[in-house]
Amino acid sequence: MQFKKKKKMMMMAHMTSSPFMYCCCLLWVLVCSSGASPVNIGIIDDFDSRSGKEERIAMEIAVSDFYGASNLQPALYFNNSGTSPVQAYSLAKGLIEEKHVKALMGFQTWQAGSITVDLSNQSKTPMLSLAEEVPPWATREWPFLINAARSQHAQMKAVVAVVQSWLWWRVTIIYEDTGSTPDGIISHLINELQDADVFIEQIARLSPWLAFSDKHYIRRELESLKAKQSRVFIVHTSVNLASNIFIQAEKLGLVDNDSVWITTSTITNQLDLLSATAISSMQGVLGVKSYLPSSGSQFERFRAEFRVRFKARYPDEPCTEPGLYALQAYDALWALALAINPISNSSTMSGESLVDNISKSDFKGLNGEFKLSRQGGVELEAQKVFGIVNVFGKSYREVGYWSDGLGFSANITEGSRKYDKRLSELGAVFWPGGASSVPRGYTIPTDANPLVIGVPLQQMQNSQSRSKKSESRVWTGAETDVGLGSHISLAEIRMKSQSY
Ligand SMILES: *[C@@H]1O[C@H](CO)[C@@H](O)[C@H](O)[C@H]1NC(C)=O
Ligand SMILES: *[C@@H]1O[C@H](CO)[C@@H](O)[C@H](O)[C@H]1NC(C)=O
Ligand SMILES: *[C@@H]1O[C@H](CO)[C@@H](O)[C@H](O)[C@H]1NC(C)=O
Ligand SMILES: *[C@@H]1O[C@H](CO)[C@@H](O)[C@H](O)[C@H]1NC(C)=O
Ligand SMILES: *[C@@H]1O[C@H](CO)[C@@H](O)[C@H](O)[C@H]1NC(C)=O
Ligand SMILES: *[C@@H]1O[C@H](CO)[C@@H](O)[C@H](O)[C@H]1NC(C)=O
Repeated sequence: MQFKKKKKMMMMAHMTSSPFMYCCCLLWVLVCSSGASPVNIGIIDDFDSRSGKEERIAMEIAVSDFYGASNLQPALYFNNSGTSPVQAYSLAKGLIEEKHVKALMGFQTWQAGSITVDLSNQSKTPMLSLAEEVPPWATREWPFLINAARSQHAQMKAVVAVVQSWLWWRVTIIYEDTGSTPDGIISHLINELQDADVFIEQIARLSPWLAFSDKHYIRRELESLKAKQSRVFIVHTSVNLASNIFIQAEKLGLVDNDSVWITTSTITNQLDLLSATAISSMQGVLGVKSYLPSSGSQFERFRAEFRVRFKARYPDEPCTEPGLYALQAYDALWALALAINPISNSSTMSGESLVDNISKSDFKGLNGEFKLSRQGGVELEAQKVFGIVNVFGKSYREVGYWSDGLGFSANITEGSRKYDKRLSELGAVFWPGGASSVPRGYTIPTDANPLVIGVPLQQMQNSQSRSKKSESRVWTGAETDVGLGSHISLAEIRMKSQSY
């Protein structure tokens, strides 16, 4: 409260003494005399989730930062879809038909975005998607879709580089089936692993519904993974499911001296939100985390405001620090505000013109350069730098960074970077079970599952001399053995991924 008042007073003082005041008055006169109504913007997301809460607060701050006290600010309609994509669709329909919104935003899951995108295209309403996993073909197919979140696809290269750092050659993938992942980022991971000649022993596709409704489901799935030899687990799920997986895995003795666990950014970005029990079962986990350029006065101002507002609105949330989702939402709203001509007649505003203006965005946002490119579709440059962390004690420590095309470095400061191909060069890692030596990444074979070594090891040694890119390589069933039951077949994923 105190903070807010001070800020307003400072702003007033600033305005009276600057030409800005004159401009505002001029706009005011124009608007009042034209009787234009504010532009309506619809924001649809799961506002019960942590990322949705961050998004909401960040967008409110963006509007007040951009427009100050002017009455030209757009009206934001936050509509909560929960986790239901169908609900997201019907809310979007309502907002377009009844509130005549000029833009839709949100949709942090591509599942919700993908069923609403046709509606946005038909009604020519620009849709700024904040999902990290929008497939590249989508923005080409739907000209009103703007991918305003950085693609996190490159993190899979970082995951594979971690695997290669210690020459592990046999892995298991655990991922959450959200409807869009099989042909999206998971196929990316599979391609990267295969290009690196890493053997994928199992792919466990977990259903969020079963995890929610059947309390033995995760345990059963992990038991079937335990029967296999691979002990290098790559986990790509929501943070809630991950918490459940690790607690069960630890009980089953799967987080032990032989094991390696690697988490992707959806989990690692939100480690601060996990319970003490979950963190204690994740000791020794290595995580790939989105790198946030969280520095500078613009960020510090935002952070202070965010913490005050977040605490006031959501007093029960354990952490008030803004994360990736807050920064992305702020920047997306800023881009939209820049694109809207504030004195245009909102009832005649054209969606084409708005998309056109947004696609020219080029400014320094909270999450780095916000420069949209229009190579086919409108999208933000992909994330190229990731942090690598290691869970230890009650929290985690930063091990280093990974940059696409360059490799691992201990420091991200310009000029002081030195890159290594291997994470192992950057210093000691705390391993699961407190092991003093590097985990083997597989378990001793039993009669039931004899160990196959020859082929993959040889492939590993030859990999240096082989050509790396193999887009057209045809997958054959003989390359891997994939589990049965609920475990997805690799062929199924490869087929889907080959369609673009
Ligand atoms: C805005 O456009 C609508 C529809 O064309 C028109 O009826 C209205 O008069 C316009 N308002 C102004 C202030 O020009
Ligand atoms: C959508 O948001 C607006 C404004 O925040 C609210 O008045 C309206 O009731 C919401 N609609 C639904 C269906 O939740
Ligand atoms: C989206 O709309 C554009 C023009 O409004 C149209 O040409 C295009 O076919 C539509 N795309 C889809 C996938 O329906
Ligand atoms: C897009 O920008 C142009 C030039 O600044 C402006 O005339 C136009 O009204 C803007 N479009 C919208 C929808 O605000
Ligand atoms: C990174 O480099 C900068 C500049 O050389 C130095 O001040 C800083 O301490 C380094 N940080 C780490 C973690 O090594
Ligand atoms: C794991 O490694 C630690 C440290 O080297 C050792 O104390 C412990 O006994 C090992 N546990 C098992 C089950 O081998």
